[in-house]
Order: sequence, then structure tokens, then C-alpha cells
Amino acid sequence: MNISLSKQVALVTGASSGLGYACAETLAAAGAWVAINYHSHAEPAEALAARIREQGGQAIALAGDVSSESDVKRLVEQTVEAFGALDILVANSGLQKDAAIADMSLEDWNTVISTNLTGQFLCAREALRQFRRQGPRPWLSRAHGKIIHMSSVHQRIPWAGHANYAASKGGIDLLMQTLAQELGSERIRINAIAPGAIATAINAENTQGEAAKRLLELIPYGRIGEPQDVANAVLWLASDLSDYVHGTTLFIDGGMSLYPEFRNNG
Ligand code: NAI
Ligand code: BGC
Repeated sequence: MNISLSKQVALVTGASSGLGYACAETLAAAGAWVAINYHSHAEPAEALAARIREQGGQAIALAGDVSSESDVKRLVEQTVEAFGALDILVANSGLQKDAAIADMSLEDWNTVISTNLTGQFLCAREALRQFRRQGPRPWLSRAHGKIIHMSSVHQRIPWAGHANYAASKGGIDLLMQTLAQELGSERIRINAIAPGAIATAINAENTQGEAAKRLLELIPYGRIGEPQDVANAVLWLASDLSDYVHGTTLFIDGGMSLYPEFRNNG
């Protein structure tokens, strides 16, 4: 079975690299018209958009900082200007600024919370406003808009040395559930994905060499994830195949959240 998102409009944030890039590419391959947001690296986003267009799809690259209210408003406006509507938001942008708590600067705390949590709020709010403005599009999807938040296993697993990051992802969990409770009656469908260790720029130091061996001990399924593992789940959550899935976090983690330290102990 092929999953088609033909003519549905998707905005993917933080899509010049890693998971966002794979999501944008995968949604476009399923026929979605894709707005590819980038923050600091225009080139990969522009190149991906050009490649999608060459292959007969529709895509644009849009600069913007998800922690800026005006940028997020503009991102949604530009998406709608280009493609006429918005059906799918993949709120993916995120970053780490790691430090032991005694050494964590307020600036690093604020940067992570602003991008990873406030950014999710701003993107979801602007998407919701657009879903309401445009009304239902039943010829494309049963839902009147879909939001997919990119969380992490660290919404559940505490992570020493990463208090700002874990707090931001824990926040996404209740943000997502609350929005799902609040907006479900409007048929706006809201879910999250909690990836485990997926090899991207964010964890490059931990997914190679000796560090990768240590990391694998935390993954019962025995391999480090690939961006496509997450993009496949995003595709499903964006499609009507998951139309009755609402307010859920899908863990895509090879079992990392199963307390693997207890395999031979406890
Ligand atoms: P990445 O570093 O390749 O991608 C993060 C993206 O977010 C980058 O493209 C970056 O430019 C963008 N970004 C950062 N600040 C931004 C801002 N203010 N405005 C707009 N975009 C901004 O890393 P990855 O792994 O692709 O991360 C994507 C998301 O997945 C993040 O939310 C991360 O927390 C989450 N995640 C990643 C996991 C992994 O193992 N790779 C596991 C669990 C969650
Ligand atoms: C982090 C990665 C880490 C993974 C598993 C993600 O949320 O961004 O750096 O490898 O969780 O711990």
C-alpha cells in the first residue's frame, strides 16, 4: 500500500538537516507540497527544495527562527502564499546546550527552552490559526489539520547533564496532550514522536566509534536509528491511516525507553 498525501501542504521546521530533512523529503515523495524551514543553513534546504521540484513535486525553502513569534507567523504566511493552505505541521526544530546543572548558564537554559518548547507552542498556535481560517478540506484528509511535535525519549527518561533539554521535551509531552484535548472536537489531530538515538548532527559525537558501542548497550533492538525510521512514522501520523490516533506519543527508539539496564539485573 502506498501512502498518498497528494496536494496536502506540509510545513517542516528545522528541515535543513537530520530528522527534519528526512521528513520533508518523505512527505514530498508521498505527494505533499512542502515548506522546508531552515534556521542557519540555507543551502541544504534550498537544494532539497530544488530537487523535489525537479522530480515534479512542489517545495520551497523558508528561513526562520521558531523561537521568534514574528518569524513563525511569517513562516505560516509564506507557506500559505505559496501553496494556498496548510494541512500538516511537523514541529521538528530542536537543539542541545549540555552542561551539568551547576554550570548551566541561564542563557543556555533559555535558548533550549525557547527553541524546543516555546518554538513548539508558537508553531502549533500559528498552524491552528491557519487551520481555522481555511476550514476543513475533506477532499484531502479527514482531519482538519494535523500537528506532529518532535519530542524525544527524554520526555520520559531523565538525562543527567541535559536538564534544559529534558525539561523542554517533558514540556512538549503535556503541551501536546493538552492541545489534543482542547482541539480534538475541531478534528485537529495532534500527536508527538519520541525518537531514541538517531544518527544526526545533534548526537554525532555519541553515534560513532567507541561511543557508539556504549550507546548500543542502551538500545535493545541493537542498532542506532536512521532519520528514515522517524520520517516513516511522521508519514503515517500525517496520513489518514492514523486518523483515529490523537494525543499519542509514538516512541521510535529501538526499545531505548524499556529500561535496558534491567535486562540482566534488578
Ligand atoms: P539536527 O541538529 O540535525 O536538526 C535540528 C534542526 O533544528 C537543525 O536543522 C537546526 O537548524 C534546527 N533549529 C535549531 N534551532 C532552530 C531555531 N531556533 N529555529 C528553527 N530551526 C532551528 O538534529 P536532529 O536530530 O535532526 O533533531 C531534530 C529534532 O529531533 C530535535 O527536536 C531533536 O531534539 C529531536 N530528537 C533527535 C534525536 C536524535 O537522536 N537525533 C532523538 C530525539 C529527539
Ligand atoms: C538527543 C540525542 C540522543 C537521544 C537518545 C535525543 O533526544 O537529542 O542526542 O542521542 O535523545 O539519548
